[in-house]
Amino acid sequence: MHKGPIMDLQRISALFEQRREGHTLPQALYTQAESFDFDMAAIFGQSWLMAGMECELPKAGSYISMMVGKWPVVITRDKEGTIRAFHNSCRHRGSMICALGSGTTPKLVCPYHRWTYDLDGSLFAAGRMDSSFDKSEHGLKPVAIECISGTIFICLSDTPPPIDDFRAKLTEYAAPHNLKDAKLAYESVLVENANWKLVMENGRECYHCSTGHPELSKTFPVGMSKHFDSGHDERVVAFEAQMDALGLPQTPVEGHYWQIARFALNEGCVSISGDGQHLSKKLMCDANGGDIGSMRWAVDPHCFVHCTADHAFMFSAMPVGPNETHVTGKWYVHKDAVEGVDYDVEKLIALWTVTNLEDKALAENNQLGVNSLGYTPGPYSQEAEMLAQRFTDYYCDKARDYIATHGKG
Ligand code: FES
Ligand SMILES: [Fe+2]
Repeated sequence: MHKGPIMDLQRISALFEQRREGHTLPQALYTQAESFDFDMAAIFGQSWLMAGMECELPKAGSYISMMVGKWPVVITRDKEGTIRAFHNSCRHRGSMICALGSGTTPKLVCPYHRWTYDLDGSLFAAGRMDSSFDKSEHGLKPVAIECISGTIFICLSDTPPPIDDFRAKLTEYAAPHNLKDAKLAYESVLVENANWKLVMENGRECYHCSTGHPELSKTFPVGMSKHFDSGHDERVVAFEAQMDALGLPQTPVEGHYWQIARFALNEGCVSISGDGQHLSKKLMCDANGGDIGSMRWAVDPHCFVHCTADHAFMFSAMPVGPNETHVTGKWYVHKDAVEGVDYDVEKLIALWTVTNLEDKALAENNQLGVNSLGYTPGPYSQEAEMLAQRFTDYYCDKARDYIATHGKG
């Protein structure tokens, strides 16, 4: 292996050796450029990441062009309906082929010298090349992809982590929500001046919610402890029995990098919304009149999704630099829901928009304090921050695996 990265890995490895169990991470892991490069290679380059939903590629030729950190990826749907993902880098001289965003195109055409690719990634045309040039050797490099119950996951590694258990469980839990029949109603990107791990730790605990999110607290059971454990609250026990009777999976399940559960919202609430009522009249799941709590899954390192009967909300944090993270929010409703009739976009996005802005302020303030000469890793609440600790434990496991595989020098 090249000498530089070996030296880097030695320094990084020492940081993980300092990690104190049950505590936040050593400072350098939240602040240094070298740690950021490591996170991209060891975490974002090695994990299944949620790109969005199949409904964002509604027809033949639909594509989504997105960034995973500094790495551009394009996802396409061909005439047969097959969805594929590729590195968005031309096999000629490497230009990014599709500009960021989404759209429809019969072929992918590089803007530089017009090399043209089919939607299956094969090189269709390349002008003025020698007769010895072999087009079949210059197709787009594929990215691993899994479409599960209407969702799309990608992995940039040539050896993706196992996904069978997650696929089986998400298929079962998401089935009642008909995500293939959804449409993207709104998408926003929030730039947060904080390390991605601070953004994610914030997103994995509700210790801060009762004071930090007065709006969310109206509908969301912010006092839950552990993994969606509400203790033996009679109302929650009755909810779980009711979901079981309806055949709607509710028991919390988890694997190394994922968790799925359905949980009861606060009393009288049927959606995660400003007033607890549905935000779209056309339901994605009409079981029990749309009173089915929230089915929530989270995938490390970067996302969570809440599905209530009326809409789904996806949160995805993508690192951009050591102290910069882009948080994408996507709101989905039933594909037949009509804007202005069945739902109002402003109302649909209001709660998570204000919540994400509150979290942005908390994460940015967290970063300022973590930069302090006085910062030292602090203890997580075992009652209220189990999922934040689970996230940093996952991060350390994954990092140590990468270091073990790629050598410490
Ligand atoms: S870099 Fe794409 S055609 Fe030249
Ligand atoms: Fe929050």
